[in-house]
Amino acid sequence: MSENISKKAFLEIDGKRIELPVLTASDGSQSVDVSKLYDSHGITTFDPSLNSTSICQSAITYIDGDKGTLCYRGIPIEQFDRPRPNFIEVSYLLIFGTLPTRQELTDFRNRLTSHELLHEGLRRQFGDVPPKSPPMAILSAMFSQLACYHEKFLPLGDEELFVEAATRLISKARTIAAYAYRRSQGLPFTYPDPALLYCANFLHLMFSIPYQQYIIGEEIESAMNLVLILHADHEQNCSTTAVRTVGSAKANLFAACAAGVSALWGPLHGGANVEVMKMLEKIYSGGMTAEDCIAAAKDKTNPFKLFGFGHRVYKNYDPRAKILQAAAERVFAQLRTNDPLLDIARKLEELTLKDSYFIDRKLYPNVDFYSGILLRAIGIPTNMFTVIFALGRLPGWIAQWKELHDSPSQKIMRPRQIYTGGIQKNYVPIEKRG
Ligand code: CMC
Repeated sequence: MSENISKKAFLEIDGKRIELPVLTASDGSQSVDVSKLYDSHGITTFDPSLNSTSICQSAITYIDGDKGTLCYRGIPIEQFDRPRPNFIEVSYLLIFGTLPTRQELTDFRNRLTSHELLHEGLRRQFGDVPPKSPPMAILSAMFSQLACYHEKFLPLGDEELFVEAATRLISKARTIAAYAYRRSQGLPFTYPDPALLYCANFLHLMFSIPYQQYIIGEEIESAMNLVLILHADHEQNCSTTAVRTVGSAKANLFAACAAGVSALWGPLHGGANVEVMKMLEKIYSGGMTAEDCIAAAKDKTNPFKLFGFGHRVYKNYDPRAKILQAAAERVFAQLRTNDPLLDIARKLEELTLKDSYFIDRKLYPNVDFYSGILLRAIGIPTNMFTVIFALGRLPGWIAQWKELHDSPSQKIMRPRQIYTGGIQKNYVPIEKRG
């Protein structure tokens, strides 16, 4: 992003004209730089959901919401479909900015493999959490706790320490995620298999049981890779903004990513994939019809949302939804199975495409609409869907944390507010308050 010196924006307030610089992004879109406005004029801008606010300059992920385009480091997401690279290759691309050479990829993989075990102290803690604990709660808590076991890698400003922390986090997150599931099932914890690649190893950790190795089908492994790749980054979404905000206080990578997990948990963000499945299952079980569901979503007196639809940035079809829908159909064909929930999802989509409520508001399926159906085909239980989203998003959070810390102009994020409460009231002692 550069300052467009030929262009200035002007703000007129109380008869005073304030000149503001205009920044131009790679695609020509413009941003008025108000960063000095408070210091120079004591004026703030108001944008509670940050809808019109760019919080950083970033070269990681590009979205064109009107066209429905998504690129990682400039590469359109469709190019990660078939023939597809591996999730770890995409993680490297996001974090380090370029596709790895063969040697770099091997080194990166070897580092991940060497960090796949959890410290026994951390592993034992799974035995102490209630068996029905939400896996996202476990994931967030365990990310934070990695700082207790890997304190050596917490200092900032050293590239090698960063790589050590990042590779530990990516590798151990997979083991933690699978153990959270096994705890919920009362199953013994399987050790990771260093001979397996990242996604195959995750499936092994989830589903192998003693003396019965889980057989990993090629199509299942590749679908798992695709799911993680498609979730790997999405520029300044809610969880990434949480990671950047926490990171801006110079908090360590583990703490910042734990905050990312917490934000992702919400049903308006990553938790939407679970809500989509609940909705589809309710329709399947006869609890409501697809038409009822559409009517409820349009009813402004009803808080119900059509989960998996709409997006702050996409005002067109989310490209990830398209790829996931096609992948789900492919996996069902390869496995010679079907899922009635896919038919229901297609029907819902069809209804929205003819409905002026959805057309006028540009509400299309987002990543969460079809991801659950594909995850079900892979054999992932619903309570793990958002955890899988987090596993996928982790390299994105790490890349954004790194970019933040590599930026020389980085300062702590500290927004302002418009205070609406009382000023200079007096404290009333409790005995006088009735
Ligand atoms: N169902 C019904 N109406 C909707 C929906 C929906 N899913 N999404 C937006 N609208 C309506 C909204 O009520 C508003 O209507 P009106 O103009 O009459 O007040 C209009 O569309 C604009 O919506 P908005 O709430 O201003 O949009 P937003 O940018 O604040 O919210 C969103 C984006 C994703 C939170 C929202 O679309 C939503 O709640 N979708 C359902 C949850 C979901 O699928 N979340 C996953 C998002 S993608 C992956 C991720 O980020 O994790």
